[in-house]
Amino acid sequence: MTRHIPSSEITPRHVYVSRRKFIRGLGLATGALALAACGALPSREGRSATPTTMPQAGAMTDELGDPINTYEEITTYNNFYEFTTDKEGVARMVKEYARPEPWKVTVGGLVNNPRVYDLDDLRKFGEEERVYRLRCVEAWSMVIPWLGFPLRKLLEEVEPASQARYVRFEAIYDPDGLPGQRIDWYNWPYVEGLRLDEAMHDLTILATGLYGEPLPMQNGAPVRLVVPWKYGFKSIKSIVKIDLVAEQPVSLWMAAAPHEYGFYANVNPDVPHPRWSQRTERRIGELKRRETLPFNGYAEEVAYLYEGMDLRKNY
Ligand code: MTE
Repeated sequence: MTRHIPSSEITPRHVYVSRRKFIRGLGLATGALALAACGALPSREGRSATPTTMPQAGAMTDELGDPINTYEEITTYNNFYEFTTDKEGVARMVKEYARPEPWKVTVGGLVNNPRVYDLDDLRKFGEEERVYRLRCVEAWSMVIPWLGFPLRKLLEEVEPASQARYVRFEAIYDPDGLPGQRIDWYNWPYVEGLRLDEAMHDLTILATGLYGEPLPMQNGAPVRLVVPWKYGFKSIKSIVKIDLVAEQPVSLWMAAAPHEYGFYANVNPDVPHPRWSQRTERRIGELKRRETLPFNGYAEEVAYLYEGMDLRKNY
């Protein structure tokens, strides 16, 4: 579905970088097939209505003028392998799951001030709205209005030691409650990593909500990473542990299929996945495919991080 967007509706770049806050106070409430990290969704006829308490999709766009996806789209088509590999099944399965309470995020490793944060502690880092494109490595994408705070704020508080070069993230491990973790195909828990300068970049956030509401479980409640210039699998959900480390972490996807999923995973139309091209993508809710943009459209902000690097080798 395409629609003409009047220029008055287009969110200028500074709005998403300048952390527009929601007026309402928002709280932190409370084998080859399986190796495909994220598949294309058949086109959906008629987008479902957004709950009336939330902004209507189309009222907001990203800085490129693309409309945000509906709440329904964002919360019913998910990759969360701890539950299931069925994207449309995740939203159903999360209803059966009682996540551990209180949720704690342990931050340590090569830091001067190791800390354990509960969700109330994380409130002090604030909550800003960031409208970001999310581009899955399987060539579908969405535009999502996240709420969250720059990861940098948390890292500054724990003070990375001088030997720290990378940040390693670990997601929840709960095989009793999470059926996907009873399948030992993957090396659970889900692990991801960033270089420290990537983690400190202003675009990198820990998200605690979307569409002005606390993050739904299917999107990685209560706290997940969002790194918009990288393929979606880097944006690890339901984080319980963050460690500053000296060596490049091995992610779940690198361990599962190192020839398919690299550490960097920057969105790059020039580097095909071994099993499919990355030139184009299907924006969920649209019929026509779009060209994929280098760094998912964030090249101006992040390309400098990779100066001098061979991005074909460092895929
Ligand atoms: N985080 C965890 N813990 N488990 C997962 O299976 N899937 C990743 C990423 N984070 C995943 C995860 C993949 S492949 C993608 S594309 C995004 O989450 C999808 O995020 P979304 O469902 O909120 O759109």
